[in-house]
Amino acid sequence: MRDKVERRYDRFSYFYDFLDTFPGLGSAEKRWRKHAIDMLDIKEGERVVDIATGSGLIIPWIAEKNPKEIIGIDISTGMLEMAKKRAKKNGVKNAVFIKGDVEQLPLRDSSVEKVISTFSLTTIPDYEKAMDEMLRILKKDGKAVILDTGRPKKLWAKLTHILLVPVAKLFGRTHFDRDIETLLKNKGRIIYKSEFYGGMVYAVVFEKPILKAEKQDE
Ligand SMILES: C[S@@+](CC[C@H](N)C(=O)[O-])C[C@H]1O[C@@H](n2cnc3c(N)ncnc32)[C@H](O)[C@@H]1O
Repeated sequence: MRDKVERRYDRFSYFYDFLDTFPGLGSAEKRWRKHAIDMLDIKEGERVVDIATGSGLIIPWIAEKNPKEIIGIDISTGMLEMAKKRAKKNGVKNAVFIKGDVEQLPLRDSSVEKVISTFSLTTIPDYEKAMDEMLRILKKDGKAVILDTGRPKKLWAKLTHILLVPVAKLFGRTHFDRDIETLLKNKGRIIYKSEFYGGMVYAVVFEKPILKAEKQDE
């Protein structure tokens, strides 16, 4: 399964940026991605992990916030090559790129302050595992942000969503119908949420759950 994803994105890497920065949807995606980075509230000196970084579209925008280090992880060599080129072209010196599976992140427990995932959890085969990993590597008071396609509640958006789900599955192997938000409510604590296009796209800030023992300490 992961080999398939890797090969698909290696092929996509040649035209991924063209599609994702296409006038219209591309500029909306840029706005949403920048909004998600703002939601992450990056402070100088923090370490930020970009889960399934792809072609590294958001790396230069994260770098503008002056973190100590940015770690971009992806399974596709083709996408990572693009990410490295983009970082170099934009003079980003504090980014490192790791080829790896985000379902088994090569990072220690509670080791980073910020984690972000943009338009990835709808493509990752075991997205629940990836979410668990995001929470595992976060420090106790760390923050994570997910920007992705969701299940809209407004009628017009619901109808559009119904039409888009099979198209995205067929052409992009992307699962617009995954209910990431509900899963997240059971795993972490959602602190804040933004919605776009009637809820077809959303961004959430979430933190680690408070463990019973920690509650008793308070
Ligand atoms: C739709 S792209 C999103 C890329 C980027 N986050 C963005 O905003 O443009 C999805 C990315 O997820 C990566 N991916 C999917 N499953 C993965 C896994 N298990 N481990 C690491 N990367 C994975 C793909 O290689 C691809 O680059």
